[in-house]
Amino acid sequence: MNVLRTKDEIGRYRKQLRQEDSSLGLVPTMGALHKGHLELVRRACRENDSVLVTIFVNPTQFNNSQDLLKYPKTLESDLDKLRDLDCAISVFAPEVSEMYGASPNASTYDFGNLERVMEGVYRPGHFNGVATIVEVLLRLILPDRVYFGEKDYQQLQIVRQMVQQKGIPVTIVPCPIVREADGLAMSSRNTLLTNRLRNEAGFLYKLLGEVKKNFGTKNANEIAEFVREALTAHPDFKLEYFSIADAETLQPVGIVDTTKKYRAFIAAYLGEVRLIDNLPLN
Ligand code: PAJ
Repeated sequence: MNVLRTKDEIGRYRKQLRQEDSSLGLVPTMGALHKGHLELVRRACRENDSVLVTIFVNPTQFNNSQDLLKYPKTLESDLDKLRDLDCAISVFAPEVSEMYGASPNASTYDFGNLERVMEGVYRPGHFNGVATIVEVLLRLILPDRVYFGEKDYQQLQIVRQMVQQKGIPVTIVPCPIVREADGLAMSSRNTLLTNRLRNEAGFLYKLLGEVKKNFGTKNANEIAEFVREALTAHPDFKLEYFSIADAETLQPVGIVDTTKKYRAFIAAYLGEVRLIDNLPLN
């Protein structure tokens, strides 16, 4: 496997692909790869001649230093998982200093109302950090397509807006959420759950299923109340937010407009581990 470490190496890699007239798909990740990430990579492999997976735990998007310290780092097993896919994959795994120089700082963006809800409220600065690294990677790598999971749906909308604002010529490909058998959305953070809590984690997806069932017959406030009560009654979950929102603008639903798409979004702590999930409702 071709593992690149520096921007110069990326420059040479990119030049060679251009000479070969090869299309390039980019899959940005923070590593600790699971089947959700691998689905993005498989899709990129089907749709491009070459695929570059970036593995970089981006310090500027962690608003909590403990979260950054605890974040799983498993480069060797990540590379093994990518080798097992039958596809021409290269990996970019730079050091923090290669991407940020001596002091990692995020740029400031204005995402308007997109960042005034949900993750934007509970993780201040997070999306500036995400947009900073995604912009740097896109400008450096100049892929034809870039793949993002709907697991981080707000991130996907933020990146769409950034790419449009900055006029970066790339096609953004959204990919559906990959789940465990009990419905838990796959996440690198799931490995931090104890066995006991892991067995409880499917509850969140069950709840989103109930929300979907009730959307259309009950109003959004009643549904939100039901979700709040269900999680308050559960001994291990602590709800951070629940929202039924317009899938494009992410603003909370008022009167349902049947021509629009809506999604339910939830963030909750299970023990010490913060889980997020979302589900399309119509
Ligand atoms: P990370 O959490 O590693 O996720 C990398 C990509 O995989 C993201 O686009 C994410 O939405 C997608 N993904 C994660 N779990 C998924 C699942 N269960 N189903 C489908 N897709 C899933 O998101 C980031 O890293 C970072 O913020 C990054 C974009 C790399 C910038 O640092």
